[in-house]
Amino acid sequence: MASVFGNALKLSIFGQSHSPAIGFTLDGVPAGIPVDTERLQAFMDRRAPGRARTSTARREADAPEFLGGLTDGHTNGAPLAAIIRNGDARSHDYDELRRIPRPGHADLPARIKYRNNHDVAGGGHFSGRLTAALCAAGGVALQALESRGIHIVAHIASLGPKPITDMPLDAMAYNPAQATLIGANKLPCISSDAAERMQACILDAAEKLDSVGGVIECAAYGMPAGIGDPMFDGIENRIAHIAFGIPAVKGVEFGTGFAAARLRGSENNDPYRMGSDGAHPVSNHAGGILGGITDGAPVVWRMAIKPTPSIAQSQRSVDLDAGIDADLSVRGRHDPCIVARAVPVAEAACALALMDALVEDEGQRAFGTSAEPYDAL
Ligand SMILES: Cc1cc2nc3c(=O)[nH]c(=O)nc-3n(C[C@H](O)[C@H](O)[C@H](O)COP(=O)(O)O)c2cc1C
Repeated sequence: MASVFGNALKLSIFGQSHSPAIGFTLDGVPAGIPVDTERLQAFMDRRAPGRARTSTARREADAPEFLGGLTDGHTNGAPLAAIIRNGDARSHDYDELRRIPRPGHADLPARIKYRNNHDVAGGGHFSGRLTAALCAAGGVALQALESRGIHIVAHIASLGPKPITDMPLDAMAYNPAQATLIGANKLPCISSDAAERMQACILDAAEKLDSVGGVIECAAYGMPAGIGDPMFDGIENRIAHIAFGIPAVKGVEFGTGFAAARLRGSENNDPYRMGSDGAHPVSNHAGGILGGITDGAPVVWRMAIKPTPSIAQSQRSVDLDAGIDADLSVRGRHDPCIVARAVPVAEAACALALMDALVEDEGQRAFGTSAEPYDAL
């Protein structure tokens, strides 16, 4: 396993869907960052299962318990560490999957790689449940970035096989009204109409014992220009690296992304104009990144989420112990669509990638305040 991410900030995520707890350690967090645990819990609740008609019925508190790294409500420079207990696990739902792997899930490759020593219950370490730990660490990173005026917002850009689309995030400037709408609608969309239609699409798939996928768009506003380290630690590399760690993510694109391949240079280039604070692009096809380095425009990216693999419809599989073909109808509690719950996960992943780049570029004093009367000490 390599469930570790980051250069200056080292995130490690551990646990399985049905182990006593999951958790994270985050090494390299600057001291002096205030952490509002109530706001963190509200952020965790946006991802937590069992809160919406379109989510799995598994019910979890998803309350991070900090074991280290916090003193009097701020980071203290020691590794930040938290666990999140798993309460509502029903492991007997999964016994069959060691023998008969789910098409589209990690059961078969995990059995081969770990020589049948893997934990299959609830998807083990491959479960979407591990994104609760990612959100706990990322929720702290989001607060740290906000203290520097960097805001990260995500929403469902499109959903379903005949894509239902939301209006795009503002690609040029932070628009708090969009963030408010995303928080208020039934699903995290800017348009309430799109949210209604997406919800109907998910419930229809669930009724047919099927599932649907979609695309999440995420934007980071207020990133300073000049952050990122090409060739392999550019902002695109870092965001893609962490985003592909989110289970069910099958594609990542930045700015105009794949559609840029169909444009002419004259259409795709972002022209510059001189402003009071220097040169800045006047459009944002680049998604705020050129040469792997931020150009001062918002960082805009999208991730494609596949339809949930565990579906109750009968599918063709194999019985690995008997060495014969076998059919499988997946039992247990599953999300008919992962996309809504993965929206805060995209924000958390983006925050961790950007905070890592900022700390690497600017050092430990990139974040946090000094408790010393004389900062020079
Ligand atoms: C928030 C979240 C919830 C998920 N819930 C489920 C689920 O209920 N059932 C399921 O089969 N997969 C679920 N997944 C996806 C699987 O964990 C994932 O598809 C599987 O591990 C295989 O990995 P891959 O799709 O990245 O290749 C979820 C993913 C996320 C991010």
